[in-house]
Amino acid sequence: MRALVVHEFGPLGSHKVEEVPAPKSGPNDVLIDVHAIGLNFPDTLMLQGKYQKRPDRPFVPGRDLAGVVRSVGSDVTRCKPGDRVVAQVFTGGFAQSVAAPEKRCFPLPEAVSFEEAAGMITVFNTAWVAIELRAGIQAGETVMVTGAAGGVGLAAVQLCKARGVTVLAAVSSPEKGELALANGADHVIDTNATDLDALKRHLRAQVEAATGAKNGNGCNAVIDMVGGDLFEAGLRVLAFGGRLIVVGFAGGTVPAAKANYLLYNNIGVLGAPLDIQFEHAYADMERGVAETLRLASEGKVRANITARYPLDEIVPALQTFTDRKMKGKIVVTTGRE
Ligand SMILES: NC(=O)c1ccc[n+]([C@@H]2O[C@H](COP(=O)([O-])OP(=O)(O)OC[C@H]3O[C@@H](n4cnc5c(N)ncnc54)[C@H](OP(=O)(O)O)[C@@H]3O)[C@@H](O)[C@H]2O)c1
Repeated sequence: MRALVVHEFGPLGSHKVEEVPAPKSGPNDVLIDVHAIGLNFPDTLMLQGKYQKRPDRPFVPGRDLAGVVRSVGSDVTRCKPGDRVVAQVFTGGFAQSVAAPEKRCFPLPEAVSFEEAAGMITVFNTAWVAIELRAGIQAGETVMVTGAAGGVGLAAVQLCKARGVTVLAAVSSPEKGELALANGADHVIDTNATDLDALKRHLRAQVEAATGAKNGNGCNAVIDMVGGDLFEAGLRVLAFGGRLIVVGFAGGTVPAAKANYLLYNNIGVLGAPLDIQFEHAYADMERGVAETLRLASEGKVRANITARYPLDEIVPALQTFTDRKMKGKIVVTTGRE
C-alpha cells in the first residue's frame, strides 16, 4: 500500500509517499480501507518533530480518516467487516489502510460522506472539548473565536451557533471573515494591528461595537487557536467570570498570562488538549462525536472542504497550512471507490 513515511523529522518537503507493507493489527484493532484523510495543523508539527510527542522513526503520520472496515481483531465488539467508520488515531492515518484501536473508531451515518467525516473528526472533537468540557458554554453567552476561518475555528463557530451562542469571529482578512459569517458567525473581528497595545484597543473597540459592553469586556469566553498577542488581547475582552480557552498556538508564540490580571478581573484561563481526553474522559468524547455526527447528518454542521488532493500529493497539501492562506479544511483521497 502507499503511505507517507517519516524516516527522520525535518521540513515538510523532506518526506515522501512510498510503497510500504500493510499495517499489522492486534486483537483490539480495526483494519480500515481508507477512503478519505483529513489534514490538520498539528500534522505539520508532527512531520517536523515539533509536536509535543515524538514517535519512534520510521513511522506513518496522520490522525483523521474515514473508510470501510476490512477486518477486526478477536477482541473487537463494536464494529464488523463492511461497516463505514470514521477514526481519529495518533499515527498511521496517511495511508491506504490503517489499523486503528477500536476505541478510536466511530460508526459513520450513511448521510455523512467519507470526505466530510475525515474533514471533521479532529477539528470538531477539539472544538467540542473547548466549548463543552472546558468552557462550559451556555446558550445566550457571547464567545469570541480566534483563527475562526481555520479548521478548529470554523468547527467552534458552528458548534457555538448550534447551541444558541452569539459568535464573534476573529480573523486576519475580509475573505476569512466572509467564510466565518457563512458558517453562522454574528460579527467579524479584524485582528490586524501594529503592536500589542494597538491590538488590545482595536479588539476592545470592535467587541464594544458588537456587544454594547462598556470598555469592550463583552465576551463570556474566548476560544483561542492562535496564542501570542491575540491571547493577551483576548484576555482584555472577557466579561466578569469570563474564561479564555487555550487550544493552540498557530501564530507560533506561546503566551503567558499575568496571574494578577486574572485575579483582579475574575477571569480564568483553561487548557483544552484533545488527545488525553480519550484516556480520561472517554464517555464525554463518545458523546461529542455522536453530537457532531448527528448535527452533520442533519446538515447543521459541515467540514467546509476547500481543497482535495490525491495521496501522492499530501506533502504539498500540508504545505498550505504554513503559508496562513488556508481556509476551512483540506482532504486527501486514496483512490478507493
Ligand atoms: N488542543 C488540541 O488538542 C488541538 C487539536 C487540534 C489543533 N490544535 C491547534 O489548534 C490550532 C488551530 O488548528 P487548525 O487545524 O484550525 O489550523 P488552521 O486551519 O491552519 O487555522 C489556524 C488559524 O490560525 C491563524 N494564524 C495566525 N497566525 C498564523 C500563522 N503564523 N500560521 C498559520 N495560521 C496562523 C490563521 O487565522 P488568521 O489568519 O485569521 O489569524 C489560521 O486560520 C493550531 O495551533 C493547532 O496546533 C490543538
